[in-house]
Amino acid sequence: MSPVIALESLSKGYDIAGGSRLTAVDDVSLQIAAGETYALVGESGCGKSTLARMAAMLVTPDEGQVSWSGQPVSRERRSAVRAQRDHTQFVFQDPAAALSPRLTVEEAVSEPLRIRRRAGARSVADLLDDVGLDRSMGRRYPRELSGGQRQRVVIARALALEPKLLVLDEPVASLDVSVQAQVLNLLADLQAAHGLAYLLIAHDLAVVSSVADRIGVMYLGRIVEEGTAAEVVTRPRHPYTQMLIASVPAFAPGERVDGPRVVGDPASPTERHAGCAFASRCTVATQTCHEVVPPRRDLGGVAVRCHHAS
Ligand SMILES: Nc1ncnc2c1ncn2[C@@H]1O[C@H](COP(=O)(O)OP(=O)(O)OP(=O)(O)O)[C@@H](O)[C@H]1O
Ligand SMILES: [Mg+2]
Repeated sequence: MSPVIALESLSKGYDIAGGSRLTAVDDVSLQIAAGETYALVGESGCGKSTLARMAAMLVTPDEGQVSWSGQPVSRERRSAVRAQRDHTQFVFQDPAAALSPRLTVEEAVSEPLRIRRRAGARSVADLLDDVGLDRSMGRRYPRELSGGQRQRVVIARALALEPKLLVLDEPVASLDVSVQAQVLNLLADLQAAHGLAYLLIAHDLAVVSSVADRIGVMYLGRIVEEGTAAEVVTRPRHPYTQMLIASVPAFAPGERVDGPRVVGDPASPTERHAGCAFASRCTVATQTCHEVVPPRRDLGGVAVRCHHAS
């Protein structure tokens, strides 16, 4: 089965003040199948959102190719790009910011269809049903809803254009813990019902490990480890992943605090890294790590970019 979306060797840099160039995403490839949740984890600024925006054709890659259902999208054909854009919808952390205070729930959910001058396959009432909201909520304004209800409205609105991929960028980070579980369960139900592919971006590894099928760990623009969620969480191979996992108390119960912690700050994305970008923070780095970019190596179901992982 061909993946819903395939990103092949995507790179994106930005010219910044002072004449230097920042590498936001560096040679990233990944695929997501229908019904699959692929989680991207990594520290702030490592390029997660830039990658998601390239997948959605909102940012043009410097290099690389995006394919939908096995069909490469030609960036020269603007109509093709526009058509593909609707395949991806975003759900962000803060539903209050995503909803206009002047639109009722019903207006908000139907707005994408009005803008596209399209009739949706599903009515607003059906979409509200889908996300577990009573139809009477359609007349309310966002300020009259709880945070969890607002996020349900955002999800209903995202589904109106019948996307193939939902980018979930910290979708529950602003919600109460009890509501987080409800929204994550809802997303799982919707995924099963509609065969949606999810690109989940989240800092909370506990959330990620409970809902993701696969995890990609990003460090300064590169995916340094990728594998099934179970493998990555229980047997992290890359020193950076080990550091991230060890920093989550839930994964290291009763563990002594002198294990590998997240120490130091990421190296600057504007520096040229001759070798592994993580080498400056890595406890096992050798001369090779500072000189040679680690290639992607397949270690039985897990792919790792580290000279020393085994
Ligand atoms: N339009 C832009 N112009 C210049 N630099 C940018 C632009 N967009 C992103 N960047 C830079 O690219 C790098 C990656 O940013 P990105 O927003 O993709 O990170 P992120 O992983 O999503 O971070 P966060 O977890 O904080 O959301 C950062 O160094 C950021 O400052
Ligand atoms: Mg981001």
